[in-house]
Amino acid sequence: MGSIYLKVLKLVLLFSVSEIFAIPNDISFSVIQVTSKSMSVRWSHYSGASSYKVTATPVNSLGSSVFAQFSGNTVMGSVNSLFPNTVYNMQVEAMDNLGHVLGSAALDMSTAPPVPTINQAYSKQSDSMTVEFNEVPGASSYILRAESPVGDFFLETPVAGSPGTVQQLSPYTDYNLSVMSVNSAGRSQPSLDVQGKTGVASPRLMLTSPTNDSILVTWPLDQHIALYTITLITQGSNSNTTLTFNTTDPFMTFSNLEPGTTYCIKAKGLALDGLYGDEISVWQITRPPSPVDIQVSVNQGRSGGLTVYWQLVHGADVYIVRATSGQNCSASETTCIISPLLCGQNHSVTVTAVNSAGPSNPSGPENFMTFPCPPDHTWIEEPAAGSCMVGWTETALVDYYTAFIKRDDGVEDFCNTTDTICHFQCLCGYAYLSTVFAYNEAGTSPPGELLNYTTIPCCPEAITIALVSTETLEITWSPVRGVEFYETTAVETADVVHCKDTSPVCALSDLRCNGLYQVVVTPCSEIGGCNHTCKAFTHETDPCSPTILSVTQNNSSSNVSVLYTAPNTPNTTYTITAVGVGITDTHTCQSNSTSCQLTHLPCGATYDVTAYASTAVGQSLPSFSVPLETGPCCPTSLTVNQVTQAMTNVTWSNALGASTYVTSLTSSLGHARCHTMDTHCLMGCITCGTNYSVSLEAFSRTGHMSECSYHGFSSSSCCPSNVKLYRMANSSVRIFWRSTGPQTHTVDVMGTVSNYTCVPAPLSSFCDLADIMCEDLLRVLLWKRCRTGCLSGKEKCYLEATQLLSMSACQQKS
Ligand SMILES: *[C@@H]1O[C@H](CO)[C@@H](O)[C@H](O)[C@H]1NC(C)=O
Ligand SMILES: *[C@@H]1O[C@H](CO)[C@@H](O)[C@H](O)[C@H]1NC(C)=O
Ligand SMILES: *[C@@H]1O[C@H](CO)[C@@H](O)[C@H](O)[C@H]1NC(C)=O
Ligand SMILES: *[C@@H]1O[C@H](CO)[C@@H](O)[C@H](O)[C@H]1NC(C)=O
Ligand SMILES: *[C@@H]1O[C@H](CO)[C@@H](O)[C@H](O)[C@H]1NC(C)=O
Ligand SMILES: *[C@@H]1O[C@H](CO)[C@@H](O)[C@H](O)[C@H]1NC(C)=O
Ligand SMILES: *[C@@H]1O[C@H](CO)[C@@H](O)[C@H](O)[C@H]1NC(C)=O
Ligand SMILES: *[C@@H]1O[C@H](CO)[C@@H](O)[C@H](O)[C@H]1NC(C)=O
Ligand SMILES: *[C@@H]1O[C@H](CO)[C@@H](O)[C@H](O)[C@H]1NC(C)=O
Ligand SMILES: *[C@@H]1O[C@H](CO)[C@@H](O)[C@H](O)[C@H]1NC(C)=O
Ligand SMILES: *[C@@H]1O[C@H](CO)[C@@H](O)[C@H](O)[C@H]1NC(C)=O
Ligand SMILES: *[C@@H]1O[C@H](CO)[C@@H](O)[C@H](O)[C@H]1NC(C)=O
Repeated sequence: MGSIYLKVLKLVLLFSVSEIFAIPNDISFSVIQVTSKSMSVRWSHYSGASSYKVTATPVNSLGSSVFAQFSGNTVMGSVNSLFPNTVYNMQVEAMDNLGHVLGSAALDMSTAPPVPTINQAYSKQSDSMTVEFNEVPGASSYILRAESPVGDFFLETPVAGSPGTVQQLSPYTDYNLSVMSVNSAGRSQPSLDVQGKTGVASPRLMLTSPTNDSILVTWPLDQHIALYTITLITQGSNSNTTLTFNTTDPFMTFSNLEPGTTYCIKAKGLALDGLYGDEISVWQITRPPSPVDIQVSVNQGRSGGLTVYWQLVHGADVYIVRATSGQNCSASETTCIISPLLCGQNHSVTVTAVNSAGPSNPSGPENFMTFPCPPDHTWIEEPAAGSCMVGWTETALVDYYTAFIKRDDGVEDFCNTTDTICHFQCLCGYAYLSTVFAYNEAGTSPPGELLNYTTIPCCPEAITIALVSTETLEITWSPVRGVEFYETTAVETADVVHCKDTSPVCALSDLRCNGLYQVVVTPCSEIGGCNHTCKAFTHETDPCSPTILSVTQNNSSSNVSVLYTAPNTPNTTYTITAVGVGITDTHTCQSNSTSCQLTHLPCGATYDVTAYASTAVGQSLPSFSVPLETGPCCPTSLTVNQVTQAMTNVTWSNALGASTYVTSLTSSLGHARCHTMDTHCLMGCITCGTNYSVSLEAFSRTGHMSECSYHGFSSSSCCPSNVKLYRMANSSVRIFWRSTGPQTHTVDVMGTVSNYTCVPAPLSSFCDLADIMCEDLLRVLLWKRCRTGCLSGKEKCYLEATQLLSMSACQQKS
């Protein structure tokens, strides 16, 4: 600083004065500095000018003009001896050698006011000097100037009037002080210097309250201060107590103070020159007393935490609660909440009161215990079906546990124990959710892990097995809860899974006929697994179809023997059915063996024969059918007519189903047969007097034969032979013949004259005629005796013999 700073400041002043240019005569002209007695002006060079004349003429007051002349090389000059605070018309004229005015310029400008004088200068504060001076007329304001005696400090301060104060000075320092008056035109010359010294600064106090009953004051030492005076003021309710100490030390301790109380500390320094410097007043509070009567309460719930209570202490701004868990809270009230509260903790809290001086000693610790933590690890087991168990690890600070078990249909159960397991009944096919809570006096733990356990599904109930076709079983059952799919197997099919499906129905197809199947429906869920303990349900399939091996007609044509395979278990019944073709006629027979008799079949009919097997379960499919034709019917009537002694005409009625017949007449002597398509037949070679059995065989077109028997037939008795007439004594004639068997004959004897009667004794082979004419031609007819029914009592078979008899002893009829 110093002189350089001063010069710069002057230069700034030179150019800061307002410049007014006189345009008309091409000379620019301006006032560059004004004082109380002078004005400095500047003009522009005028070509051809050899000198310049500057004239100042008072404008509003009487008085003579003042001028000054300058050579032609000059462009700056001042006019002196002016009156302060007076308006002058300033003019510059450019002149040639001869004194002719070549050009000019003019302007009005006032001089500065008069120079004031200082009466007194003193220091109220260590950083300022107050100056009292005489005010001067025409001054609008003043400038106070402070300079260091050696000139290395310079400060100007504008002030309105007397007294004025220069601020921002250094403490305990000498200054030369002067004052200048100011108006619109400029400033006056500075007044005469006056010397002054600033006081010492107040000590720079630093205050702390190291304990609840003390205040420590420290400050840096000042070389200009000989003694420090420190005052402590205790503000009482009625009076203020003041304690004052003198010291040369840089510190002072006040003790036995009230905790949490504000004290006023004043300090000032006594300078080496014997004057007191600035005084400083500072407020300081002591540290608050320790809070007492601490209480805690653990709150459960979402916004839960540890609520800590205490009593307000004097002079505290805020209270800080610290827990040994590392958590804290603070409040300016009598309570605050430490949250979140962690489970399973055994800790203590202390409360510290704090004010601007610092914290109090912490209160005595208050213990608290939080609600327990839930068990770390929980699990569900099912040691035996239907009997489940929740287990958990032991947890600290727990009085007892409660396990809640909720079934997925909403049924709830719980178990209260100090143990670490809990049994519960679990039914098949349900999902169970379980949570374990732990309890102590502080409350409930948060819920433990949510366990999810699903039991194996139950076995299906209401299983029905139906045989939907011979080899297909349909199994249906009522749906089972919790089942994702069912597996249907049968023991007999090597446990092949027939159905794996979500729907409660399954068809087991392509099974063996007459098989006993043990069907098992296994319900499965993905989580619980499959219930493999479900029992099997047995069901039989229909019996297998028999195969007809043969159908044979027995001797008695109305019975048919059917042979078939019996591919089923012994208990199977086989039913054979013959259904008439073209007639409504059905015959059945049943058997449990491999054959069966169809009886009472009518002759001459055609049937389709099928067989099926049946058991308690059902029926097999029918076998392939086999055609059956029964033998043709026997003709209902058959007559044998003897045409001649050796020939018969056999006639019979039409027989159903017969197309050809073989008729036989059989006797011990032989038999006669005839084969015909007609219903009659002539048969020869009949022996007279023989009993024949008559039979007929009727044949169908396919060769089926029916044997028909009829009444026996007896051929007519043989005719007699060898009729002879013998003359007997007494004119009698014996008629004699040969008979082939015991036979009674009739004899007609006709003579030429008269007819005779000869009656043989029964079964005899002669008869006698008496009284025969001597000469007569006798014609004898020998008849077989007639069988019942013949009209004449004779048969055709007769012998005729004619003989002329000449009797010796002829008697003459008179
Ligand atoms: C300050 O005043 C003293 C005494 O009047 C004088 O000797 C000194 O030169 C002054 N200093 C300045 C910078 O004017
Ligand atoms: C105590 O001092 C304070 C501040 O200095 C003042 O306001 C108060 O009136 C004084 N009290 C008494 C009783 O003097
Ligand atoms: C402190 O010193 C000052 C100046 O010497 C004196 O006036 C005052 O009485 C002293 N105070 C005490 C309490 O000694
Ligand atoms: C103040 O602090 C001291 C220990 O520095 C302690 O013994 C005393 O009890 C405290 N006073 C109060 C009121 O807290
Ligand atoms: C309170 O706890 C928080 C978090 O642990 C910590 O940042 C803070 O410094 C503590 N405050 C106090 C006063 O101990
Ligand atoms: C569980 O047991 C504890 C102590 O044995 C008892 O206090 C509590 O009331 C019980 N809880 C229930 C729900 O029974
Ligand atoms: C339990 O498990 C079952 C099967 O995974 C699931 O459907 C159900 O949503 C689970 N329940 C809960 C509460 O987790
Ligand atoms: C299978 O189901 C039965 C009856 O539904 C049930 O009693 C049994 O407990 C189940 N098996 C298992 C392993 O749960
Ligand atoms: C045969 O059937 C009867 C009744 O239907 C039954 O009691 C018996 O046990 C069965 N025998 C066999 C070997 O199947
Ligand atoms: C077969 O049937 C006969 C008679 O119908 C009966 O006596 C016999 O017990 C049956 N046999 C069986 C094995 O059922
Ligand atoms: C045999 O009897 C039948 C029926 O009466 C008849 O039609 C037929 O002509 C007779 N045959 C002879 C040779 O007498
Ligand atoms: C004898 O009988 C035959 C037949 O009956 C008859 O024609 C005839 O006239 C009879 N003769 C005499 C003589 O009566």
